[in-house]
Amino acid sequence: MQDNSAIELRGITKRFGKVVANDSISLNIRKGEILSLLGENGSGKTTLMNMLSGIYQPDEGEIYAEGKRVTIRSPKDAYSFGIGMIHQHYHLVDVFTAAQNIILGLEDEKMDISKTNEEVKKICDKYGFDINPEMKVYDMSVSQKQTVEIVKVLYRGADILILDEPTAVLTPQETDKLFAVLRNMKADGKAIVIITHKLAEVMAISDNVAVLRKGKYIGTVKTCETNPQKLTDMMVGHAVTLNIDRPKYDNPQPRIEIKGLTCVDAEGITKLDDVSFTANGGEILGVAAIAGSGQKELLECMTGLYPIKSGSIEYIVPESGERKELVGLAPMKIRQLGVGMAFVPEDRLGMGLVGSMGMTNNMMLRSWKNGKSIFFNRKNPEELAKRIWNDLEVVTPSTEFPVRRMSGGNIQKVLVGREIASEPNVLLTAYAVRGLDINTSYAIYNLLTEQKMKGVAVIYVGEELDVLLELCDRILVLCGGKVSGIVDARTTTKEEVGLMMTSLGGKEEK
Ligand SMILES: Nc1ncnc2c1ncn2[C@@H]1O[C@H](COP(=O)(O)OP(=O)(O)OP(=O)(O)O)[C@@H](O)[C@H]1O
Ligand SMILES: [Mg+2]
Repeated sequence: MQDNSAIELRGITKRFGKVVANDSISLNIRKGEILSLLGENGSGKTTLMNMLSGIYQPDEGEIYAEGKRVTIRSPKDAYSFGIGMIHQHYHLVDVFTAAQNIILGLEDEKMDISKTNEEVKKICDKYGFDINPEMKVYDMSVSQKQTVEIVKVLYRGADILILDEPTAVLTPQETDKLFAVLRNMKADGKAIVIITHKLAEVMAISDNVAVLRKGKYIGTVKTCETNPQKLTDMMVGHAVTLNIDRPKYDNPQPRIEIKGLTCVDAEGITKLDDVSFTANGGEILGVAAIAGSGQKELLECMTGLYPIKSGSIEYIVPESGERKELVGLAPMKIRQLGVGMAFVPEDRLGMGLVGSMGMTNNMMLRSWKNGKSIFFNRKNPEELAKRIWNDLEVVTPSTEFPVRRMSGGNIQKVLVGREIASEPNVLLTAYAVRGLDINTSYAIYNLLTEQKMKGVAVIYVGEELDVLLELCDRILVLCGGKVSGIVDARTTTKEEVGLMMTSLGGKEEK
């Protein structure tokens, strides 16, 4: 074994009932290295790392810390071996400050808080974090909360940091900041494991990439000697083509017409300012914007979830061409008209899925809410659950298996699949592929295109410009709650869209 090994796993196996989540995995994590852990949804990444952080214990195999065999029974044990994990769901107390959260549960908790503030500041200065120790958690953005979680594990002396999909909830700018901090930590000799599905990030941040497939360890490659295509093939086990078909729909017709839409939040801040555009059936309209530019409010206005100050949202009924004003209608009514939303929230289980129920029951839940009765016999939801299971390759032992026990990405597949399967006329999606592996992301893109070719008006709020440019027909760019332009996705460039996202006065499509 090399002497710079921080942690070594040998023959680790973990089973949940009949599911073998990790099958005799051996892996070496080195000091001064950033290792990406890559694998499809449900391939066992989180489970493996949870055994290092003391959440689970292996059924078989051994763990070595600095060459010594160790047993990790609890997160506290993990800290004593210098291991700290930043989970996807944060465990912070809202009413406490950053510093209070950082020392929560420690023996020196009662210690002088000003001294803690100082020490927290020291850690922040050392690695380049930007956080005020006295800020209350409820005032923080997601990225600031994440920073608190990272500083918390550093404060506890972690030399091995494990981050489970830390960038899934960050904007590209916040991701860059996080990566700068990770590089500083690496230079300081820390060992870092990062789980991410975004291959561009894998290429940008890691020294090595370890790949898992269906619970098995496939191998580790040097990042500088690989590329996204090779990594995908390794993950999936056979060659895959990564391109998005963009067929044209004959004769797209207006389906939603928005005029002068303006809304303000509870504090009186204008979130959408005189927004006007048309979404056509048979078209994917992309929405590109920096986080917090009004994209969330736009979708919420369209589904009746956000109060509107002025303006109109007209829904044009397919075939009859009749116009219906959506402003003022209850969310349920809007849904019944055929406006569906596959909104993928930060908290997947909070949004319309019941964790203790299986896929089938969760399908029924959606259709009950919808007020439709066709699903009242169990056969249909079961068929639907099976279809989603097949089409999106959901990793679960059965359609009755509690959703809560599925891997993060697989929960997401259920959520998105269910929305698409409800056959809406307008399909609104926000961050539909967040947390999904690359193969499944492409499956989702294909499903959206399939919907478009059926004449559905698809609105796709996305984070990755490359995808927006490849998938959409037109792109609506928002900046500070205003429309800065609508461009043809087939002819525009990343630079043009990027510029419009940060400044108004972009070009308007005729
Ligand atoms: N507590 C649990 N009970 C039963 N099965 C579980 C439990 N935790 C994980 N599993 C199963 O173990 C397998 C691996 O899940 P894991 O969460 O490690 O995947 P992952 O690689 O992190 O996926 P994702 O990219 O979707 O987050 C999945 O089949 C999952 O359903
Ligand atoms: Mg996971």
